[in-house]
Amino acid sequence: MQKWQEYGLDFLANDIDEAVPLPAWLQLDAVAAVPKFHATMPNYAPTPLLRLEHLAVAGGVAGVYVKNEAPRFGLNAFKVLGSSYAVSQTLCQKLGLSLEEIGFAGLLRRRGQLHGLALATATDGNHGRGVAWVARELGCPAHIFMPAGAEPERQAAIRALGAEVEVTDLCYDDTVAYARALAEKNGWTLVQDTAFPGYEDIPKLIIQGYATMAAEIAAELAPTEAPTHVFLQAGVGSMAGAMLACLAQYFPAARFIILEPKNVACCLKAAAENNDAVSVSGKQETIMAGLNCGTPCPLIMPLLREKAAFFLGCPDYVAAHGMRLACQPQAGDPAYVAGESGAVGLGATALLISGRLPQSRERLGIDAASRLLSLNTEGSMAPKIWRQVVEENACPLPEVIC
Ligand SMILES: Cc1ncc(COP(=O)(O)O)c(C=O)c1O
Repeated sequence: MQKWQEYGLDFLANDIDEAVPLPAWLQLDAVAAVPKFHATMPNYAPTPLLRLEHLAVAGGVAGVYVKNEAPRFGLNAFKVLGSSYAVSQTLCQKLGLSLEEIGFAGLLRRRGQLHGLALATATDGNHGRGVAWVARELGCPAHIFMPAGAEPERQAAIRALGAEVEVTDLCYDDTVAYARALAEKNGWTLVQDTAFPGYEDIPKLIIQGYATMAAEIAAELAPTEAPTHVFLQAGVGSMAGAMLACLAQYFPAARFIILEPKNVACCLKAAAENNDAVSVSGKQETIMAGLNCGTPCPLIMPLLREKAAFFLGCPDYVAAHGMRLACQPQAGDPAYVAGESGAVGLGATALLISGRLPQSRERLGIDAASRLLSLNTEGSMAPKIWRQVVEENACPLPEVIC
């Protein structure tokens, strides 16, 4: 294990354990039903895989790819993949039905029978929007709890789907505990994207639900385009774990790099301390709202600790750089809209291949044959922040780091 800093980014090179198998519930055969399920949802379409060829040439690498989740079901983020699968499986179990047989369309036809089931969750925005959308589609009430300081635009997007939203005066982790207590008291079904002792079934289904992104990437890339480096942003780490497990089976030579906001880097801390049960305390301020989580998901952290090659703590300017580059790309590359939590992978990729991080580029083994994949996990969910960053250059790249 090695730690270093460059250009304000914290790096941890992790000792990966090749011998430990991937968890059985994330093996490709265990998640094979997931993409088939999502294909039964109205308006399903695979999200685009963008090839930033000109950025790759300018950076001296063989490929830069971005899976753009912004168009996912018109909800601007990947998150609904998890909640739709988990809620649908849970409902089918309650009703004694097989989701594989009836699909989402079959649940929609039984809307009347689902009456009485209320959903609840805590969220920074995207997960709650996914839960609210599924609840609306299936005709269930949804109770959504948000941490203090939740962006008004993120709240409004959830309310617009008919959910009841309460903004607490708590941080994200404490909001999860609050939602859990209220769900228990009121008999609501908690649809949380992280686990805790005694609550694992629904988070497992949510995490499995993300497998559709990996399946779509594998279907899109030719064998000669297999990524060598995959950048995955983490809040609690559930999405990163799902993608790591699935993509490692499709692309066995890939190295995985976990990205977090520098001052809320709980997965990096857990890996550094070899302790999955850590939490980050102190100032949890970052523009990356979706990644502002202080405690890793206990179901996933062991996998990240064993299999992720690197952990990076990123200052906000890494995400801001990615947001600007997404919509003002290298001439000839496609432009797209990336939100704060979505853009950090492209921001880190661009910095690594730009010459600003020479030491880290070498240590990560990035060379002319490398193909770098990252995920734009959200479009602009908070347009005010997006405009400040993109149009007014808020959060600029520092000239030098002292
Ligand atoms: C846009 C976005 N990207 C990434 C993540 C990280 O997902 P996880 O909390 O599973 O690590 C989130 C979480 O809400 C998110 O909203």
